[in-house]
Amino acid sequence: MQGSKNAALPVLAASLMVPGVTTLTNCPDILDVACMCSLLEHVGAKVSRRKKTLTVDASGIVCHKLPREYVTRMRSSVVLAGPMLGRCREIAMTYPGGCVIGDRPIDMHIRALERLGVTFFDEQGILYARCGRLRGNTVVLPFPSVGATQNVVMAAALAEGITKIEGCAAEPEIVALCDFLNGAGARIQGGGSRRITVEGVKSLHESTYRVEADRIVAGTYLIGTLAAGGEVFLENAPAGQMESVLELTESMGAILRVCPDGIWVRAGGTVFSPKTVETGVYPAFPTDLQSPLLVALCRAQSQSSLTERIFNGRFAVAEELNKMGACIWVEQNRAVIQGKAALAGCHVTAKELRGGAALVLAGVCAKGGTVVSNRHFIDRGYEDIVRDLRGLGVDIDGEK
Ligand code: EPZ
Repeated sequence: MQGSKNAALPVLAASLMVPGVTTLTNCPDILDVACMCSLLEHVGAKVSRRKKTLTVDASGIVCHKLPREYVTRMRSSVVLAGPMLGRCREIAMTYPGGCVIGDRPIDMHIRALERLGVTFFDEQGILYARCGRLRGNTVVLPFPSVGATQNVVMAAALAEGITKIEGCAAEPEIVALCDFLNGAGARIQGGGSRRITVEGVKSLHESTYRVEADRIVAGTYLIGTLAAGGEVFLENAPAGQMESVLELTESMGAILRVCPDGIWVRAGGTVFSPKTVETGVYPAFPTDLQSPLLVALCRAQSQSSLTERIFNGRFAVAEELNKMGACIWVEQNRAVIQGKAALAGCHVTAKELRGGAALVLAGVCAKGGTVVSNRHFIDRGYEDIVRDLRGLGVDIDGEK
């Protein structure tokens, strides 16, 4: 299983906090990592890659302005704010803005960082942030935002004094970031719980960190196997981070065996409808697997409903799936999915990462050929979905 995109990106951002070399192993070879590396180089870091190993030398940070094209292309670049403020006390960036899956405000990031002494101001659409030495404080997040939690943890790691953060996100990617930072000399407790305490240190030191397997890529192929049929071994899939996914897919008819080195999944022949499903913050069913799940629900024996609790626009893919013969109707943040859909291949268009992956899964299930345009969206988070699915016996082709 490839390394986790959502663990690698914040750890790469955090490497700017280290006045030296950070080595990441098992780093996924995906477009978002390439974009983050370009941002690191833009501010003065030296980045080199050998296969899955990335080294970042952030000895010299020379610029604090992030280029518009990168920030608008990858909203998670906002997590560079904490590291840059901790390291060089300022950053300038355009607002990341909304995207197909929903609004992507950064109000929680801003409020949290202001508690540590950061001053923000806006000039002609550019967001500027400045601070002296960051000061520890108490921070309460109104919603367990993954990015906001990461930003305030990183800023607090180099602040003066203690920071207590309440209402934190508890995703595995928060644990990964805290583990990386502690391995580089930070003093963070409570990563993965709702309450994190950070004792600021003067500086961090060089370290090597192994990026964990990607639970969303593993979940995509697990759900795909349930939907399309067959038997697959997901090597190194992080089963311990996928409990809600394993529980739901088992209830839908998947036959699973969790082994020390991965997960065996076999489709049971019938896909049962779970009736109602909703996404939520970890450890609930992850919003990033909502689109792939839609495909499996199309194949279920009866009608299901799926409620999206995290993003306000994450059903865009339903329109494309309906072109293939699905019967999904969406009302605000709830979708109702008719079962037993006879999916027929046709030309569909990916509009974002996880919806694009779902269209490929639908193509695997459909009768006849399917063309999915805008493969670059999928390549943002999947190293090579064509390679992976061809390896599972799927008749699939496509150029990068
Ligand atoms: C991270 O995005 C992930 N991205 C997303 O994965 C994932 O879907 C999301 O967490 C939720 O798990 C990365 O880790 C790079 P949030 P993030 O802040 O941090 C609202 C993928 O497909 N919000 O937890 O941006 C926000 O609008 C991507 O790999 C505010 O209102 O997510 C959303 O509705 C997609 N104000 C909700 O909180 C803020 O200041 C959750 O967002 C911040 C967030």
